[in-house]
Amino acid sequence: MNVILDYIALFFIAIYAYLEAFIKLFIPAKRKSVSGDIVLITGSGHGIGRLTALEFAKLQSVLVLWDINKDGNEETAEQCRKLGAKAFPYVVDCSKRNEIYAAAEKVKTTIGDVDILINNAGVVFGVEFLELQDHQIEKTFEVNILAHFWTTKSFLPAMMKRNQGHIATVASVCGHIGLTYLVDYCASKFGAVGFHECMTEELASLGKDGIKTTCLCPVFINTGFVQNPSTRLWPVLTPEHVAKCFVDGILTNKKMILVPPSVKTFLTLSKFLPQRVISRINRMQEVQFSTKFRSATKMD
Ligand SMILES: NC(=O)c1ccc[n+]([C@@H]2O[C@H](COP(=O)([O-])OP(=O)(O)OC[C@H]3O[C@@H](n4cnc5c(N)ncnc54)[C@H](O)[C@@H]3O)[C@@H](O)[C@H]2O)c1
Repeated sequence: MNVILDYIALFFIAIYAYLEAFIKLFIPAKRKSVSGDIVLITGSGHGIGRLTALEFAKLQSVLVLWDINKDGNEETAEQCRKLGAKAFPYVVDCSKRNEIYAAAEKVKTTIGDVDILINNAGVVFGVEFLELQDHQIEKTFEVNILAHFWTTKSFLPAMMKRNQGHIATVASVCGHIGLTYLVDYCASKFGAVGFHECMTEELASLGKDGIKTTCLCPVFINTGFVQNPSTRLWPVLTPEHVAKCFVDGILTNKKMILVPPSVKTFLTLSKFLPQRVISRINRMQEVQFSTKFRSATKMD
């Protein structure tokens, strides 16, 4: 009997969720205020991390900036200050657990509890699996996913006490589909998507509805992270557009941000299509890029 009641409840919840989603199409989502909030961004010395910092600076948040690149990070801090925001750059190697823990303690004692944690730092090698060095595989996982555990372990306890905060994960479309020459990268980004989804579920189960989560999954972006990227299906995105979508998603507590949104259709279809068809579509995309570790990486 209980099972039948569960299914009936599920049916009504599904109808409610679809109706809610439909109505929200016509009502602009409310944006939360982040003025004075402490926002910590990893990988803030360049690209999406820097532009995300600048968006929060415009909203008068307090920026805590972590990057391995001292000069780039200080440049980001300077640009944030020009926008009237407080900014505190730290040199942190996010592949090192102890550096993360030590820097987190410093932030908590000198600046305060972090309100919004943005795990953005990332690395990519983009070489064929058997050419990948063991230390490269380890680095990919240390920066692209393990660091998320260490930063979240550092800053979540204070969020839990207040039942307030936000954890944002920068993953990638590569966290949903596998691509040639990106075995380590895709596996780490699947990990990042899994981290976000499990964290979201766990916080909900623990009744911590004041702690929000957001995951960003874009296609190629023109930041120089990979060189000369191109695909037939999707545009190469501008970093400014992606940073705006990301911050807008955080302000509206959006769970998953796919950029461009049409990626969602492809991901939904890929759940139903046979593997042979998916492989064919992947080849039809003619994904191309190079990295400093391999030139002119071509997928076919
Ligand atoms: N550019 C793309 O095509 C693309 C697409 C999808 C997702 N992403 C993801 O977006 C995020 C940001 O990438 P981006 O395009 O801005 O790249 P980027 O190279 O412009 O910036 C990455 C930043 O991370 C920093 N970083 C690297 N290793 C670090 C470490 N060990 N410790 C601390 N900081 C470190 C770098 O110094 C740099 O400032 C990454 O997680 C990446 O995987 C990028």
